[in-house]
Amino acid sequence: MTAPQMISSPFLKPFFLKTPLNVASHQRQRRHTLPASEFRNLTPQDAISVFEIEREVSGECPLTLDEVLGFLGQCPELSLGWFEEGQLVAFIIGSGWDKEKLDQGALTMHVPNAQTVHIHVLSAHRHCRQQGKGSVLLWRYLQYLRCLPGLRRALLVCEEFLVPFYRKAGFKKNGPSAITVGALTFTEMEYQLGGQAYARRNSGC
Ligand SMILES: CC(C)(COP(=O)(O)OP(=O)(O)OC[C@H]1O[C@@H](n2cnc3c(N)ncnc32)[C@H](O)[C@@H]1OP(=O)(O)O)[C@@H](O)C(=O)NCCC(=O)NCCS
Repeated sequence: MTAPQMISSPFLKPFFLKTPLNVASHQRQRRHTLPASEFRNLTPQDAISVFEIEREVSGECPLTLDEVLGFLGQCPELSLGWFEEGQLVAFIIGSGWDKEKLDQGALTMHVPNAQTVHIHVLSAHRHCRQQGKGSVLLWRYLQYLRCLPGLRRALLVCEEFLVPFYRKAGFKKNGPSAITVGALTFTEMEYQLGGQAYARRNSGC
């Protein structure tokens, strides 16, 4: 297992170096108020909250609890959670991938030091949907990925009805995916992270 990457960029510190609330220090436990809103990488301790949000989504869960635990253990730096007063309200889980297109193997695999991030799941708590949270979290995640060294693109598969949502976020359609889950078929979408020198120079990366 590859140790999670430690990131020195000042832009990334707020995500990666924040302590999860449930493993908080004594000093943190004395706080009377929880942060109204914070973004940070997820850890295996967040897996239950992730699964609770996933489970209430109709249809099949994209990831099993074991897979969530596996990805958050192997590549926490490719996840991002949005917490409001300590509660997870939306999250993204990604892992590394090293082929041109996503295939069935990508559903369960993390390839360390890869140039491609496979976004397995973006989900917002059902009480928080249609408020812009999914779009804002995705935007922050993509900005964050652009600052991680070596990453060139993000890939995901989605059902056809979500293609407009990802298009609005800057993804391009790659066509039908080889991935199927039961009777479900998917469209592959791609977001270019590389070659953004101007954005990088001005982003604090
Ligand atoms: C998809 C999801 C993350 C969007 O998060 P959100 O916070 O509700 O999204 P926003 O408020 O930022 O944007 C809303 C947009 O999402 C898209 N959208 C969300 N659910 C949709 C649905 N069931 N059908 C079609 N479009 C949908 C639409 O483009 C919508 O814009 P519109 O209202 O102008 O049509 C959220 O609906 C969710 O968690 N869904 C269940 C899990 C899921 O399907 N995840 C994606 C695949 S793993």
